[in-house]
Amino acid sequence: MQDIILCQSLEENLAQAVSSCPHDRLFVLTDTETLRHCWPLVAGIPCMQDAQMITIPATDEHKTLETLSTVWTALQQGGASRHSLMVNLGGGMVTDLGGFAASTFKRGMAYINIPTTLLSMVDASVGGKTGINFGGLKNEIGVFNCAQSVLLDTTFLRTLDRQNLLSGYAEMIKHALISSTEDWAELMRFDLDQVDYALLQQLVAKSVAIKERIVTEDPTEKGIRKALNLGHTAGHALESLALAQGRPVLHGYAVAWGLVCELYLSFLRTGFPQRTLQQTLQFVRGHYGSFPITCKHYDQLYEYMTHDKKNQGGVVNFTLLANVGDIRINQSASKEEIMEMLDFFRENC
Ligand code: GLY
Repeated sequence: MQDIILCQSLEENLAQAVSSCPHDRLFVLTDTETLRHCWPLVAGIPCMQDAQMITIPATDEHKTLETLSTVWTALQQGGASRHSLMVNLGGGMVTDLGGFAASTFKRGMAYINIPTTLLSMVDASVGGKTGINFGGLKNEIGVFNCAQSVLLDTTFLRTLDRQNLLSGYAEMIKHALISSTEDWAELMRFDLDQVDYALLQQLVAKSVAIKERIVTEDPTEKGIRKALNLGHTAGHALESLALAQGRPVLHGYAVAWGLVCELYLSFLRTGFPQRTLQQTLQFVRGHYGSFPITCKHYDQLYEYMTHDKKNQGGVVNFTLLANVGDIRINQSASKEEIMEMLDFFRENC
């Protein structure tokens, strides 16, 4: 399993992580944004002096086979071997694509993730899901293969805009919901308008520990790792609808709205407490705003849910909760229940 390091000093922690991976050559992958905003915080670190830089275009639309091919080419031209080491410095796109490039080059070299967004710190960079988009589908091609180390340094979050902070925070709410009422209440209280970065660092550490616990138990998502899909069946459908309508939303916003949908379904199906549902709804509406849909969108949303790659046999599969921390995986819902869930969302969000 991977070593997850909450950085006190990026310089020392990175030096330690790099030296614990003996290597012949060192590569750093950034995108054009992290090259500009994040690499300056890493470039002066002595253990990075011999690194060869590889830079790819930023944003999810470049998480493609073509970009992957440019990374493989750069590794080949840079003399990489199976004993080389790659450091991925960036958000989820860089850590997913970089992790996949490293995992497949000469059948796999080691890699280290330094996530620079909240979303990648608490989710993408941890747990070994690597890959690229393909054939119009997100994360269609990839492998499970963990980074040797993940270095979490919340200093990078100080320059993150509010929307991207909120986007990552939605995955933290998801982790808290599958963990405990105490963790959930702490996140509902946190002031996202006046961010206390020291406290945020502690919350990030707790959030990652929740994910790590689940991933350690079930690395390849045969069972309990499906808990991490809470909010994502409805969330991905809303994200796809938003994209198709030309009003794209950040992944975490769709997850926040998806959580509202699936907590309502949990209330219907598995007795999730109404009060907790209402409090979460208020938090989501207050911070993420609304995502207006009409009944005319229901069929399209249902269609997206039935095509979710986590389904089997055409049945829409959800992770639901009987209470905060009381997880029920593999819950199918009827079309009527899904329509009722969408009614609740349309009327409340
Ligand atoms: N993002 C969910 C997982 O890593 O399983």
